[in-house]
Amino acid sequence: MRVVLLVIMLFIFSSLKAENGYDLWLRYNKVSNVSILDQYKKQITSPVVLGGSQTITIIKDELARAFSGLTGSSYIILSSANNSTSFIAGISSSAVILSIVTKNELDKIGKEGFIIKTKPGKTIITANTDIGLLYGIFHFLRLMQTQQSITNLNIISSPKIKLRLLNHWDNLNRTVERGYAGFSIWDWHKLPDFIDKRYIDYARANASIGINGTVLTNVNANAVILTKPYLEKVKALADLFRSYGIKVYLTARFSAPIEIGKLKTADPLNDTVQNWWKQKVKEIYDLIPDFGGFLVKANSEGQPGPQDYNRTHADGANMLADAVAPFNGIVMWRAFVYSQTSNDRFKQAYEEFKPLDGRFRKNVLVQVKNGPIDFQPREPFSPLFGAMHHTPLMMEFQLTQEYLGQGTHLVFEAPMFKEILNADTYSKEKGSTVSKIIDGSLENYSLNGIAGVSNIGNDINWCSHPFAQSNWYALGRLSWDYDLLSEQIADEWIKQTFTNNSSFVEPVKKIMLRSHEALVNYMTPLGLAHIMYNGHHYGPMPWGNTLNRPDWNPIYYHKADLLGIGFDRTAKGTNALAQYSTEVQDKFNDINKCPDEYLLWFHHASWDHKMQSGRTLWDELCYKYNTGVDSVRSFIRQWESIKKFIDEDRFKQVSQLLNIQLKDAIWWRNACLLYFQTFSKMPIPPQNEKPDKTLEYYQNIRILYAPGN
Ligand code: GCU
Repeated sequence: MRVVLLVIMLFIFSSLKAENGYDLWLRYNKVSNVSILDQYKKQITSPVVLGGSQTITIIKDELARAFSGLTGSSYIILSSANNSTSFIAGISSSAVILSIVTKNELDKIGKEGFIIKTKPGKTIITANTDIGLLYGIFHFLRLMQTQQSITNLNIISSPKIKLRLLNHWDNLNRTVERGYAGFSIWDWHKLPDFIDKRYIDYARANASIGINGTVLTNVNANAVILTKPYLEKVKALADLFRSYGIKVYLTARFSAPIEIGKLKTADPLNDTVQNWWKQKVKEIYDLIPDFGGFLVKANSEGQPGPQDYNRTHADGANMLADAVAPFNGIVMWRAFVYSQTSNDRFKQAYEEFKPLDGRFRKNVLVQVKNGPIDFQPREPFSPLFGAMHHTPLMMEFQLTQEYLGQGTHLVFEAPMFKEILNADTYSKEKGSTVSKIIDGSLENYSLNGIAGVSNIGNDINWCSHPFAQSNWYALGRLSWDYDLLSEQIADEWIKQTFTNNSSFVEPVKKIMLRSHEALVNYMTPLGLAHIMYNGHHYGPMPWGNTLNRPDWNPIYYHKADLLGIGFDRTAKGTNALAQYSTEVQDKFNDINKCPDEYLLWFHHASWDHKMQSGRTLWDELCYKYNTGVDSVRSFIRQWESIKKFIDEDRFKQVSQLLNIQLKDAIWWRNACLLYFQTFSKMPIPPQNEKPDKTLEYYQNIRILYAPGN
């Protein structure tokens, strides 16, 4: 009897799916809606996938896994079709497919797009390439995971952005710059012989959201990655990722010719240096014929670069571009620079890059962070978007939450990304949105891209905070189609990651959609920026004033004094606003019309300045900080209310993290208000909570061993 019981228990345990977050949004749990399940079972009978490439094998494995999981019945994926085949996936060269889709439709979708057509009892998924087909399959599985009807589909989809990349800031010793999810997933020591299963699941996850490239290494680069033994390791990853449509890129340390090439110089106009890079690039392409190219951080934060030889960014980028051009490689040259040449860090990237517009080779993209400073909770769009008419610009977003509560705060970044993508630069006319600049349509560039600084590490659930996965997901989905609404992205991510139960989905979606604004409110409301702790950037330090460079100190950014607070970037101040088109200037220039969210980005406003709410600036600041804290309290209440709908592990994990977030929000509010009050000399309004500790208490908080730093 005991033995039988034990066997039954073992069976139950082994059939329970551990919910540790490792499966991301690809869990394929059994469909809960009975009529939808019934529809799926009828629709998917004897599925056929045509073709014989490695990608086709991947598709078959994914379908078998997904169909079995979603329906609870096991599936064998067949390889050849006949007239009665009801489910068929294959590329468009097959005759069966050509009888159903038109040439016109196929022309529209290019290399990576796909077509899904269904009617009851018939499903066709097709594309021009196996990779396009893989994307179509994942789209179809997304519909099934979110329990949508699949019997009447006519989907023709292709990506709006060509390069959809992750940027890993991973070091060769496996630490991750600004990484909050453990160590790097790249186990360089064991590569190339040991292929961690994670690499495969990483590739699956990326392919499922259309990510087609990965920069493996930190922008603060190490030349060792370009040595033969390491290139062989890179090759192992490239060989694996290829069938998932993912190209591999590396960061190039500008001084590599000196460090690993034993040359005396890295001057980009020096023949020997140019030849060194050409040889190095040839060596890379001999190993990895479809190597994507280089990402470069140069002359920024101590990194070497062409300016070390009195050359320009264009000279440096072009040298590398010439080396990779024969192999169709590209160079993504970062615009994250801020040498102290002017009175406002906001202006510095523009000042260095605008004069170089038109001087880069065709295979160079200038990669620009979304805002002018550095991934702050809210920034206006970088004025470079809209200013470079002759240079394709690539967008750089940050998924890892360096300034957004790092590994402990729940922040869904899609609304923040969309705020930037939808911003109108007026660079040509009304409607010249940032998205139209980076998709190449405004200036007619075929090279275009979006990169997300990765938030992935070797934590069991990849991103540490269970909700941080949603930012990886959002990056992929928005790069495919930046017109998707944040709400839809949240909706599908929640359903796939947790459950389709609307009692869970709806409240959690509300939390996600409010989370970014909540964080802005309790950290940097009304256009404040960069008032985090020096160095690790976790927690408030508006009083920070001890670093050698003024623009590394928080006081540089908020400029609080007895009169008011904020950075005057109008013509009376640093005139940074002049870097925008006149329409954008008009939006921000007038202190009485500037939207509240951006007020302190552009104006030094007096403490009693009348805000749009009718409150004074000081009262509004108190109100915003309190609203931020209250939002987190409401997230905690909402999260408590969904307890019964999900697994205990993830429920508890998020609960604990939300409690940290609340503590931190209170810390932020109290520290900032107490500090700013030393200037405003105004009381905290009676309806707002009073800080229960002193300013000195907050000023003495130290985090000595912060992660990611
Ligand atoms: C930020 C970040 C650095 C990073 C840099 C960059 O300043 O704190 O760690 O290297 O951005 O984007 O290059």
